[in-house]
Amino acid sequence: MGFEISELYRQDLPPAEAKWGGIPSFSFVGGNNDEDNVPVAGLTEAVQRVLQREGRKLAVYNLGGSPLGHEDLRRFICEKLGVRAATSVNVDEVLVTSGSLQALDLVNDLLLLPGDNVIVEEATYGGMISRLNRLGVVVHGVGLDQHGVRPDHLVELLESCSSQGRPAKYLYTIPTVQNPTGSCMPLERRLEILAAMDGFQTAIFEDDCYADLLWGCDRPPTLWELDGPNRRVIYCGSFSKSIAPALRVGYLVAESPVLQQILSLKTDAGSGALEQMVVAEYASAHFDKHAERLTSVLRGKAEAMAEAIRQNFGDSVHFDMPQGGIFIWLTFADGVNTADFSLEAADSEIEFNAGAGWSVDPVWGANKMRLCFGNPSVEAIREGVQRLAEIMKMTSPGNGS
Ligand SMILES: Cc1ncc(COP(=O)(O)O)c(C=O)c1O
Repeated sequence: MGFEISELYRQDLPPAEAKWGGIPSFSFVGGNNDEDNVPVAGLTEAVQRVLQREGRKLAVYNLGGSPLGHEDLRRFICEKLGVRAATSVNVDEVLVTSGSLQALDLVNDLLLLPGDNVIVEEATYGGMISRLNRLGVVVHGVGLDQHGVRPDHLVELLESCSSQGRPAKYLYTIPTVQNPTGSCMPLERRLEILAAMDGFQTAIFEDDCYADLLWGCDRPPTLWELDGPNRRVIYCGSFSKSIAPALRVGYLVAESPVLQQILSLKTDAGSGALEQMVVAEYASAHFDKHAERLTSVLRGKAEAMAEAIRQNFGDSVHFDMPQGGIFIWLTFADGVNTADFSLEAADSEIEFNAGAGWSVDPVWGANKMRLCFGNPSVEAIREGVQRLAEIMKMTSPGNGS
């Protein structure tokens, strides 16, 4: 019998990925960004300047500095949080990660064992749902309204987990530009959520990766800031959405002893140092201006997509206008399963996120859909939404086709 390496694979692997087939013409999935607004000139200049000045440091792991990451970048992250989110963080409370996905993995590694309870928003980031399912934890979905997490339902879940003798390990929330709903939790709701959690042994994992792309309201202080000395919050952010996802630069904010423990799990000898140096160099000089320009472009795309949805789907769909970010969350009539349209859509070069993958309860999420507008052009948004509406009309049961 010949050698077959797959016989040696671990038994608990997820299914293998399909071979990559390229990005379709109307791709409304993924946290991709607007190509024309990658700050290529500014990044080019930053690469040159920082390499000339400090390139020799690349000879040593972590540039010869702290394993928490490049200090100039950590200092910039503290400044950015101070100026943009009225949030005070010191440099030793920041760990640079390889994208915020690594931050999610590290926090999960720190806190979770199979069978643990966790609470997440009923509609949330698909990448977190798949991670939690793989970890074998029990995921409870907390209800959302237009202001984010509903405190009444949160208390119900916290009490129910505690009464089983297994308090939820954390509430994972995306309060500022929620993924996928695009809502922003106002200050008052943030305070209500924090108060609701008093007395429970449950941490808060705040994911703020879209917060620099907010246009619908003023940015409230972070839960990290509002929680103050309680320090129940672990916070993460990213430069993926505000500069470019392929850079893979994210960050965790937590009290210093928590980060020291997390460092024992971050066994990659440091996240890519060149990206950290370049982001620090570029962002210290240009971040605010860049984020303002990008946000206004994304707002224009959101409006173009909303108009295309209204024109082509009419009353058959409900959505709230996002407060920022790169996606719109649609709800169709009960009984519609948006996943049923994926194959026909793919045949027409259209890709979308079926709601089940972004929902703790896939049955609840079946009639929902996430459409991302960050990467496609306004023309592609208009044409793609029109084609998608046609496909959904043609292939709906009762149409006879
Ligand atoms: C809510 C949320 N968190 C984390 C991530 C991961 O982003 P990255 O690893 O590129 O920082 C994403 C990506 O889309 C996201 O939507």
